[in-house]
Amino acid sequence: MLIDVLGDAFASREREIDAGPITPHVTPEEIRSYLASRYDFRKGIALEEIIADVEKMLKTWQVQITHPRYFGLFNPSVALASVVADTLVAMYNPQLASWRTSPAANEIEKFTLDWLTAKFGFPAETLATFTHGGAEANHSAVIAALTRSFAEYGNKGLRCLGGTPVIYLSREAHDSFSKIAHMTGLGRQALRTVAADRQLRMDITDLKRRVAEDRRNGYIPFMVVGTCGTTSAGAIDPLREIGGFCADNGLWFHVDAAWGGAAILAPSLKPLLSGIELADSITCDAHKWFSVPMGCGMFFCRHPENLVDAFRTDPVYMPAKISGAAFDPYKTSMQWSRRFIGLKLFVSLAAQGEQGQAERIEHQVRMGQILKNLLVETGWQIVNDTPLPLVCFTREGLDVGEFLALLRDRQIAWMSEVRIDGIPAMRACVTSFKTTEGDVKWVVSEMNQLFAQYMRAQLAPAGH
Ligand SMILES: Cc1ncc(COP(=O)(O)O)c(C=O)c1O
Repeated sequence: MLIDVLGDAFASREREIDAGPITPHVTPEEIRSYLASRYDFRKGIALEEIIADVEKMLKTWQVQITHPRYFGLFNPSVALASVVADTLVAMYNPQLASWRTSPAANEIEKFTLDWLTAKFGFPAETLATFTHGGAEANHSAVIAALTRSFAEYGNKGLRCLGGTPVIYLSREAHDSFSKIAHMTGLGRQALRTVAADRQLRMDITDLKRRVAEDRRNGYIPFMVVGTCGTTSAGAIDPLREIGGFCADNGLWFHVDAAWGGAAILAPSLKPLLSGIELADSITCDAHKWFSVPMGCGMFFCRHPENLVDAFRTDPVYMPAKISGAAFDPYKTSMQWSRRFIGLKLFVSLAAQGEQGQAERIEHQVRMGQILKNLLVETGWQIVNDTPLPLVCFTREGLDVGEFLALLRDRQIAWMSEVRIDGIPAMRACVTSFKTTEGDVKWVVSEMNQLFAQYMRAQLAPAGH
């Protein structure tokens, strides 16, 4: 059985990764000259040899994001269930552009998305699709919002509008919106950066002020983005208040829950997402906190008619739809050829059950809390405030960049650098369901020893 073959291979790699280094030491030149010395594509090489070589490169030349001490950028550890699923997808290579070509795959995706739609409190008529990731889902949201807000947008483009359309987001929102503003023709200046409060949540008073001011000045506000789990600090914007304001003012409310959205399944965390059900659209990445391999994003839209309008097309060469209940994703989403993205989430949910998935999420929250407590107890200063497992911290006398480099060089942990209110800080996010209390304690203890050495070196007179 496929699962037996992959199960052994997966288990041995997992053991190796967990016990090995996290951060590679390599330069672009080293990899380029290695590749050039071995490959020229002129003559075929035995597959076993190529695969062994590629695996060696992956083992030695990448940050091991599935390592239990990778405290990084929302990249998860993965489980066997979703790896088997992704292998099956590659083997059968179903094309999900049209229902007729891949009925089973399309219905499995729809089944999975419908289940999550209900969890988010969205209506049954919601149209959801899998995406490559959060950036594509956010892009889809902006296109849907433009389509709903401006009747002429689809045919005549932005130039037909009587003013400049603008989008509101907090300064902590994800930078994909900057690229999206560029790509959609809105222009990067169409983004209005709303102030954040002390917890780095969108300041609703500033939002209201900015919308009113823009309207007075002839701009056309059409969309507000609230983030559920900001990338730097894990903040959750006041979703209910933003939703209410958007409803009263005819603005499209998009929730970017790329990371935090998974918390909807955890009973202890679900209340934090209160108000998400008011959104017009949601981004949620399964390849973040649902712990499935990349890329597996999701886009949920309350207004199917806007997606049907935005992505409509009718080429003669595509298979005709066969019945009223069938659907063709290429006509309602950005992608055309479409990989069976959703299988890894379907299999993962089916294998663990909802409770198993929730336990993984709650476990990571507990590990984040333990990490935060230990850091506070041992003199570190926490500079963010979130119930999600993401801790930003610093310490008097610390050069964050230098210290992070030491932490990585010594293979203690992988963490990233952020700026909170302009101040550099270390950012540790528990992204692996494999991280244990022992891992967290060991990392903090090693960090404290390293910090003591670091300070001694800083204070030693030059030349000593
Ligand atoms: C809040 C948020 N939104 C969107 C994205 C983009 O998601 P992706 O990298 O899956 O495209 C990220 C990525 O980290 C994110 O943190």
